[in-house]
Amino acid sequence: MKVLQVSAEFFPLLKTGGLADVAGALPLALADVGQDVRVLLPGFPSIRAGVADALPVAEFDTPWGQRVLLRLGHISVGERQVAAYVIDAPALYDRPGNPYEDAHGQPYGDNHRRFALLGFAAARLAAGLDGAWRPKVVHAHDWHAALAPAYMAFDGSIHRGDAASVFTVHNLAFQGLFDHGHFLELGLPHSAFDINGVEFYGHLSFMKAGLFYADRLTTVSPTYALEIQTPEQGCGLQGLLRGRSRQLTGILNAVDEAVWNPSTDALLPARFDVDRPAGKAQCKAELQAQLGLAVRPDAPLFTVISRLTEQKGLHLVLETLDTLIGLGGQLALLGTGVPHLEAAFRERAAAAPGSVSATIGYSEALAHRLMGGGDAILVPSMYEPCGLTQMYGLKYGSLPLVHRVGGLADTVVDSTPDALSGGSATGFVFDRFDAEGFTGALRRAFELYTRAADWQRVRDTAMRQHADWHTAATRYLNVYEEALQ
Ligand code: ADP
Ligand code: GLC
Repeated sequence: MKVLQVSAEFFPLLKTGGLADVAGALPLALADVGQDVRVLLPGFPSIRAGVADALPVAEFDTPWGQRVLLRLGHISVGERQVAAYVIDAPALYDRPGNPYEDAHGQPYGDNHRRFALLGFAAARLAAGLDGAWRPKVVHAHDWHAALAPAYMAFDGSIHRGDAASVFTVHNLAFQGLFDHGHFLELGLPHSAFDINGVEFYGHLSFMKAGLFYADRLTTVSPTYALEIQTPEQGCGLQGLLRGRSRQLTGILNAVDEAVWNPSTDALLPARFDVDRPAGKAQCKAELQAQLGLAVRPDAPLFTVISRLTEQKGLHLVLETLDTLIGLGGQLALLGTGVPHLEAAFRERAAAAPGSVSATIGYSEALAHRLMGGGDAILVPSMYEPCGLTQMYGLKYGSLPLVHRVGGLADTVVDSTPDALSGGSATGFVFDRFDAEGFTGALRRAFELYTRAADWQRVRDTAMRQHADWHTAATRYLNVYEEALQ
C-alpha cells in the first residue's frame, strides 16, 4: 500500500518533542511490514539540508495564490533511507530556530498558511500531483497536518476508494486555533466553517478539521483515547470525539531500537543490557562526575528529561525536592521551556550542587547519558498522550515514576506488593496529582532502592518490556485498511 506520512517534525532532522521520534520511526516500521511509504515535510532549513538530493517533481498554486515547488529526495536514517517530499516555499519556511515560533516565543503570524500548505500539498498528492506515485492513504499527524483530511474531503477529483485519510492526535491541547478571518484564505468551501466542520467557538480550528474530516482517527495510547472523550481532557472536543469513538483507535507508541538501545548506544560511556548490567554502574558514576554531583553509587539518582511546561507536572518535583534530597537522593534534570521553571530548577541546583543538577537546554547526547546513568526517571505529567521518556527509561533500567494518566498508565506497572511478588512491577505510579501523591510514590521508590535484590528484579522486568514499532506498525496498517473500506 502506498502511504504518505505528513508531519511538521522528523527525527533526526527536526525535533521539538516526541512527535519527531514517532514521525521518524513509523515510516521505517511500515516499510518493514511491506508498505511503500513516503513522508511529506515543510521545507524548514534543517529539513532542506537533510534532504540533500531533493529534485523538483511538481509545481502548484496555494489557495492564496502563491506558487510553490514540491521536491522529492531521501532522508538517511542510520543505514536506511526514507523517501521524502519537501515543500519548497522559502517565504513561509526559511526562518531560523523553532518551527512554530519566532525568537520571542510568539507564534508566527502566518502559521495558518504555513501549516495549511502542509495539508494542502498532501491532498494534492492524493489527487495525483506526482504522476509517478499516488498515495492510497494519507496519514496526518497533529494540528500542523490536520487540514489534509479536509482538503481531501472537498477535492472532487478524489473519489471514494481512491484514497483515504487517517489523522493521529499526539496532543489534543495544541489545536491550531486561528482568527476566523483567516478561513477565507484557505480555499475551503464556505460550508466548512460550521460547527460540523472547522469552526470552534467562532475560531478556525485545524485540530477540529482533522477530527471531523478524517476517515479514521488514532491517538497514541489506549487510555488517552478514552480520556479525550471526557470533559476533563477533551479540550472542548469531547463531544465530537465521542460521536466518532467507533472510528477512534489508541495505538501505543514504541521505542526505536536503532536510536534507544543501551546495548548498542554509542552515546553512553559503557553499554549494558539485562544480561550484562555492569555497564550501568559505570554510566552512573561518569554521569555524576560530569554533572558535578557527588559520585556515590548508593545515592538513588532521579532524572527528568522534558519540555518544561505545565503539562509535565514538574512543580511536583520542585515541591518535593527537599524530601528527595533529605532521603539521600540526587536529581539530574535536562529540559527547556517556560522561564519560571527553568529559573526554579537552576536555583535549586545552585543551592545544592552535589545533589541537584539542572541543564537548561536541549541535548540529545545528555538525554541518552541520563537514561543510561539514572536509577529512576520522573514523569509526573498532569496529562500525557503517550510519553516516550518513560518507555526509554524502562529500556535503560531507569525505573519510571509516573502519574497514572494516558500512556503513562498504559506502560508502567506500579510496584505494589502484589505486582512485586508476581514479578510484573516495572516502576512507581501515583494517582493523586499533588505533592502528597507524588511523595508517596517517591518514598516507595526509596524504600525499594534499599532492598537491592528487589530493585534489581524490578529493573530486569522493566528492561525486558517489549515496545516495538513492528507491533504498532501492524496496528496502523489495520486502521489504514479500515479507512479505505
Ligand atoms: P513530548 O512530546 O510531550 O515532549 P515525549 O515523552 O513523547 O514528550 O517525548 C519527548 C522527547 O523529547 C523524547 O525523545 C525526549 O528524550 C526528548 N527531549 C525532551 N526534552 C529534551 C531536552 N531538553 N534535550 C533532549 N531531548 C529532549
Ligand atoms: C506528544 C505528547 C506525548 C507523545 C508524543 C508522541 O508530544 O505530548 O505524550 O508521546 O506526542 O506521540
